[in-house]
Amino acid sequence: MYIEFNLNGSQVGMEVSAGSTLLSVLREHLGLFGVKHGCETGECGACAVLLDGVPVNACVILIPQVQGRNIETIESMGEHPEQGWRLTKGLDPIQQAFIETGAIQCGYCTPAMVLVARSLLKRNPSPSEEEVRDALSGVLCRCTGYIKPVQAVLRAAAMLRGEDVEPVWGALPSPTEFIPAPDDGDRDLTGAPGDSEVLTSTRVMPQMKTIVDLETRQSVGRPEPKVDAVKLVQGKPAFTLDVEMRGMLVAKVLHSPFPHAKIKSIDVSEARALPGVAAVLTWEDLPRVIYSTAGQSDPIPGPLDSFSLDNKVRFVGDRVAFVAAETEEIAEEALNRIKVEYELLPVILDPEEAMIEGATQIHDEHEFVDFADSDASRNLAAEIRIDIGDVDKGFKEADTIIEGTYQVPKVSQAAIEPHAVLTYWDEDDRLVIRTSTQVPFHVRRQLAPVLDLPIKRIRVVKPRIGGGFGGKQEVLIEDVAAHLTIATGRPVRYEYTREEEFAASRSRHPMKIKMKTGVKKDGTITANEMIALSDTGAYGCHALTVTGNTGHKSMALYVGDGPYRESPNIRFYADVVYTNTSPSGAYRGYGVPQGFWPLERHMEKISRQLELDPIEFRLKNALRAGELHPFSTAWSEGREPRPEIINTCGLVECAEQGASAAGWSEKFRNPVWHEIPGQPHLRRGIGLALVMQGTAIPYLDMGGASIKMNDDGSFNLLVGATDLGTGSDTVLAQQAAEVLGVPIEDIIVYSSDTDFTPFDKGAYASSTTYISGAAVVQAAQGVAERIKIRAAKMLSEGGFDPISHTELRMANRSVFTPDGRSISLKDIALSSLHHEDQEQIMAVGSYMSPVSPPPFAAQFAEVLVDIETGQVQVERLVMAVDAGIIVNPLTASGQVEGGMTQALGYAVCEEMRYDQDGQPLELDFRDYHIFAAHEMPELQTIFVETFEPSHPFGVKAVAEIPMDGVAPAVGNAVLDACGADLHEIPLTPERIWRALKKTNS
Ligand code: FES
Ligand code: FES
Repeated sequence: MYIEFNLNGSQVGMEVSAGSTLLSVLREHLGLFGVKHGCETGECGACAVLLDGVPVNACVILIPQVQGRNIETIESMGEHPEQGWRLTKGLDPIQQAFIETGAIQCGYCTPAMVLVARSLLKRNPSPSEEEVRDALSGVLCRCTGYIKPVQAVLRAAAMLRGEDVEPVWGALPSPTEFIPAPDDGDRDLTGAPGDSEVLTSTRVMPQMKTIVDLETRQSVGRPEPKVDAVKLVQGKPAFTLDVEMRGMLVAKVLHSPFPHAKIKSIDVSEARALPGVAAVLTWEDLPRVIYSTAGQSDPIPGPLDSFSLDNKVRFVGDRVAFVAAETEEIAEEALNRIKVEYELLPVILDPEEAMIEGATQIHDEHEFVDFADSDASRNLAAEIRIDIGDVDKGFKEADTIIEGTYQVPKVSQAAIEPHAVLTYWDEDDRLVIRTSTQVPFHVRRQLAPVLDLPIKRIRVVKPRIGGGFGGKQEVLIEDVAAHLTIATGRPVRYEYTREEEFAASRSRHPMKIKMKTGVKKDGTITANEMIALSDTGAYGCHALTVTGNTGHKSMALYVGDGPYRESPNIRFYADVVYTNTSPSGAYRGYGVPQGFWPLERHMEKISRQLELDPIEFRLKNALRAGELHPFSTAWSEGREPRPEIINTCGLVECAEQGASAAGWSEKFRNPVWHEIPGQPHLRRGIGLALVMQGTAIPYLDMGGASIKMNDDGSFNLLVGATDLGTGSDTVLAQQAAEVLGVPIEDIIVYSSDTDFTPFDKGAYASSTTYISGAAVVQAAQGVAERIKIRAAKMLSEGGFDPISHTELRMANRSVFTPDGRSISLKDIALSSLHHEDQEQIMAVGSYMSPVSPPPFAAQFAEVLVDIETGQVQVERLVMAVDAGIIVNPLTASGQVEGGMTQALGYAVCEEMRYDQDGQPLELDFRDYHIFAAHEMPELQTIFVETFEPSHPFGVKAVAEIPMDGVAPAVGNAVLDACGADLHEIPLTPERIWRALKKTNS
């Protein structure tokens, strides 16, 4: 049909199929890649555009519906104000506000949010926060926790009303002694819910207890805007599939409808004969190469148990065949024409059944490669046995032994950008893989044998990533497109649908965990034991390392007191087993949230049973600075363990600051606060959890960086590190800027491309700011030294005394002598490149850490429980974090807010389940609920700085620790509210109701 409409102010007319969606026309016909998509079923809101000024989801609008109407996309809004001679109007105030408030993380939802905000502010120039949250509620964001987007819209509203707005951070933070509970000063503790403004109030900036005078710093410690923010807020084509290529094919995968079966025969003749089909591949067409899909360093610390295509399927969603066709519709039709005969096999869905003698063997392929103690004949992907001290003796010395069994669910990373890849042969017959991955260098190394290509013939390009959270630390779909490009010689794109994301992606390992703790009457822990049964699903990707971290990074927190502190008794055993469910894998926190749910619920039970103060009891037994990390001599990820002393631990201060901000002393054990006058069915509760994580993997993770000086005194910073929306490119640029004495806009960051950027292990294990940051500092110091040597020579000319380069200082784009003379970086650059003793000033740095300094945190939660229905409303989350020195308070607090929000889903509503036939029950965002803007509690972030001496700027990790404490703090708050003692998350109303019934009976 012929269709006409007004697009961004211009008339458009075109011939398109009447069944096309507005989304496909805008992206594929018109190349408007600012319109994103995350589900194509109308649930995520990433595809929002304005139709006659009203936000609509373009994926559910059919093209005939827009005939004669006005469409606005993000491309209609602001240009970059500094585009040379071209006269541009600059960014829209809404876009500007999103940048200034740090509202952009991965930026995948940002164009939709900006358009929704534009529509709201046209209708209502002075919206309340609640109205802003309502307006944004249709756009799901998995990164931010919505605080900063909400604040951005309120700020933009003020700007559009012509009001002056303060800089987001007017004054730099100064050292603070004590962070009070700011909102609770005015809050009536006896008030009913909803009486207070507090529940929806937002703070853009975190509160901070700083230890470094920021006046002495040029960039590190300052709330710099993200280096990629402008292009993201403009919806520029920055993501993997925001490109067009002539002759590009669309890939689709036939997935298994059965959880466990042999493929007896597969007939693809009809599919291959379909016009428009370029290739159909089955297991018979591909080299049979066994590998692991886990994106990890060499050697992969886990079993090799996967093929690109196999003659057996092991879960509903497993791969059966690949198709490449001219269009998506043809590819779908080709899938329908593939005839497969299956021989059904017994199904194992329960991990306990997997371990029963005689259970069907899920991996019976002769190529299976064991790692450490994996044993395919017992469905065992990994086995861990760690004994520290003498645990049995510790139990004998205890006055009381307390036991409990806990359970955590399988959950999805649910990044809004699905897995996406584009492959093609370049002009040198090298295979280019443009992919949304956290681990570009691992993708190249691991795929080379699978594709039967040498590493040097593969180039992996990582554009912007629309969120990953561990789900993209996997070589998940790159092989599909690559095999099809090899088969056809043509570019191929492949992208998961949201249904594939749920059925055939990776998830957090579900676990059943038994705790047993020996305690003296005074609260001294004498022995602590955790026994985990972890379900890796059909493949063992990350089986050993995720589950190892469950014990390693949670059980290390409590060493005991007195003599037990000197020699703690800790046991962690785990069996990681195969089942016929979708594979588990890496998810932010990497096994540690699974450890802290049982550990911190158990600590709460012990403190209550012994009638001890829950904070004092925890701190009495907790690890301290100067002590040995108890697991450091017992277990490490893929390397032999080596002793590590904890250099810094701000846990006591986190507990004090967090308790103060949460109003703990006024609320805990205060019956007046717990009850709601006139509403006897409601109860308030407060709970806490102490947590720790790690920073990178010692002796294993390596990051590299190179820095090159340009003619104008700016620098190219090339990093292999992978910014998946966290802001790591920005904090790396800040570290370079600090050393080189330039503003951050003089550092041009590029990440990452295996042809151009130095090696980096990728984005995982909370390592980028620390490991890659140290590499950047090393490279910057190399460049700075060359600059100073030249500067010393130039500053000594004209009759001045010779000066040593070691006396010089770099600041304000110049190099200064102690007596105040200076020369600009631009003059030095011109001299070095054009005038005298010409050289390219550049340096490479790389860094591997011998330690993994843990960040620590105290998490507090406040809840309201309806004891008649079991409904729990989390009203407030306060997290006080020691993540070392904070390089960028805006991006770091965004990590904490977004992490707490994901963790809140883990606590109360997210769960992936299967029916008795192994069919997944949650396949879309209707059934799998993630939090929207209007559902959020108040979030408060506090940073308690310490200076970690193993890093030049004193940093530790911040990205993963926010995942760890929310679930147990909420569980403890529910217990505090109503006595419901829950051992399993998520805390659904039904589970709370049943626990209440049990308590009351
Ligand atoms: S709502 Fe359209 S892609 Fe998700
Ligand atoms: S910033 Fe919203 S989805 Fe990433």
